[in-house]
Amino acid sequence: MDHTIIIYSTYSCVAIAKERFTYKVISESGYYAVNIMNFRYVSNVADAGRLSGYRVKNKFRAIGLTPIDAHKIPVKVVKEADAVLECRVRNEIEVGDHNFIIGDVVYAYATEDFNLRWGLEDYLPILYISDGFFMTINKDTIKRYMIE
Ligand SMILES: Cc1cc2nc3c(=O)[nH]c(=O)nc-3n(C[C@H](O)[C@H](O)[C@H](O)COP(=O)(O)O)c2cc1C
Repeated sequence: MDHTIIIYSTYSCVAIAKERFTYKVISESGYYAVNIMNFRYVSNVADAGRLSGYRVKNKFRAIGLTPIDAHKIPVKVVKEADAVLECRVRNEIEVGDHNFIIGDVVYAYATEDFNLRWGLEDYLPILYISDGFFMTINKDTIKRYMIE
């Protein structure tokens, strides 16, 4: 899939509980990637949220997604992702039972549907509502408003 390079740099923040395998690999490497997935892959994403890397040898394979090398950081990213933020850990803040991990986005890219903001033509976002319930929106169902 062709990706557009997003040229502005910024920060990202993820909240990860210390007992997650994800927390261990981020802490050890100092890097992480945010993979933004299409609703087409919602069941794979839901499986990622139920299965721990501590319990399987290859979590990517177990949930049916494909690992590929990131462009600028020494981690794997998801081949099927519609957008990827490649991040280097900058700071970490303990907040309740999760830690906020703040990173510099060192490289970012997305599919053609992203042109400053999502067109929602091909990209259908995964919206997690609660209690195992997910939804999506598309260009016909979304309501938009823009500040003048
Ligand atoms: C929709 C959804 C969202 C989740 N969000 C988070 C999150 O933001 N932080 C977190 O630590 N766990 C979150 N979880 C739970 C983890 O994904 C889950 O415990 C997973 O098995 C951890 O895998 P790991 O041990 O390989 O990191 C979420 C689960 C679901 C289903």
